[in-house]
Amino acid sequence: MGVSPFAGIAFAIALISLLVALYPHTYAPPASPSPPRLFTVQDLAIYNGTDNGLPILLGILGSVFDVTKGKSHYGQGGGYNHFAGRDASRAFISGNFTGDGLTDSLVGLSSTEVKSVVEWRDFYVRTYVFVGKLVGRYYDGEGNPTKYLKGVEAKAARGAQLMEKQKKEEAKIPGCNSKWSQDEGSEVWCDDGYPRLVQRPLEIALTGKMSKRCACYKETDLDQPGLEVYEGCDYLSKACRL
Ligand code: HEM
Ligand SMILES: *[C@@H]1O[C@H](CO)[C@@H](O)[C@H](O)[C@H]1NC(C)=O
Ligand SMILES: *[C@@H]1O[C@H](CO)[C@@H](O)[C@H](O)[C@H]1NC(C)=O
Repeated sequence: MGVSPFAGIAFAIALISLLVALYPHTYAPPASPSPPRLFTVQDLAIYNGTDNGLPILLGILGSVFDVTKGKSHYGQGGGYNHFAGRDASRAFISGNFTGDGLTDSLVGLSSTEVKSVVEWRDFYVRTYVFVGKLVGRYYDGEGNPTKYLKGVEAKAARGAQLMEKQKKEEAKIPGCNSKWSQDEGSEVWCDDGYPRLVQRPLEIALTGKMSKRCACYKETDLDQPGLEVYEGCDYLSKACRL
């Protein structure tokens, strides 16, 4: 616009300097963050909600959060009191709050289950205040992530990728319509194509389990392997009662 860009920059610098002079505290650098506190299992156990004078802390994947504002859940008599003062990461999936169910080990869980635990940790990051790290399975004595934490995060990421891929694969073959009523029970049908039961793609890798869905296949695709005709339903029926 004919004005030297340097004039604009110089003006901006002058303006900022003026503001800094007027409101010095606004521009003070933030206090350097203190390193997160490192807890041992015993340190953490004190914050189990028994002592009303102490905050309530919860560990998940080795991250420790202050959940005092959720006292109704995590305090004494709360339904989730067993999460207080410990890392019971596995119980976020198993719902088993007894004995060895209260462990931080995720060994043997599927990638979707591991992903779900990581999502619980995200929930605590969003909802509560992070106060430190638990030294043990997920963080070492210096507060660095262990190979177990890295493994968990990698498995969760893989789970997320597989779920995306599954969604894309399933979108290629539309699912069946379905309805249920007290009198007639359930029924599946296709507006276009024929109902078939088929193993969900990638499901074994995701959950370690078999899981079938109903999908609508065109007549030219009906000879593909792995397609199951519903019991009691004709080869070329558009609707099947279950
Ligand atoms: C694996 C099983 C389960 C786990 C690990 C679990 C975990 C939790 C946790 C940690 C909270 C507290 C969240 C917060 O800090 O605000 C919560 C809240 C809640 N849970 Fe569960 N839960 C499970 C199953 C269930 C089931 C089966 C029901 C109902 C039938 C249920 C109903 C609720 C309700 C209603 C709240 C919210 C209460 C409120 O905000 O006042 N949960 N759950
Ligand atoms: C729960 O915390 C209290 C103190 O806040 C402590 O005396 C008690 O030993 C803790 N319970 C467990 C099982 O660690
Ligand atoms: C909880 O876990 C423990 C230890 O793995 C097991 O012995 C117990 O049967 C489980 N309880 C439930 C209700 O699943």
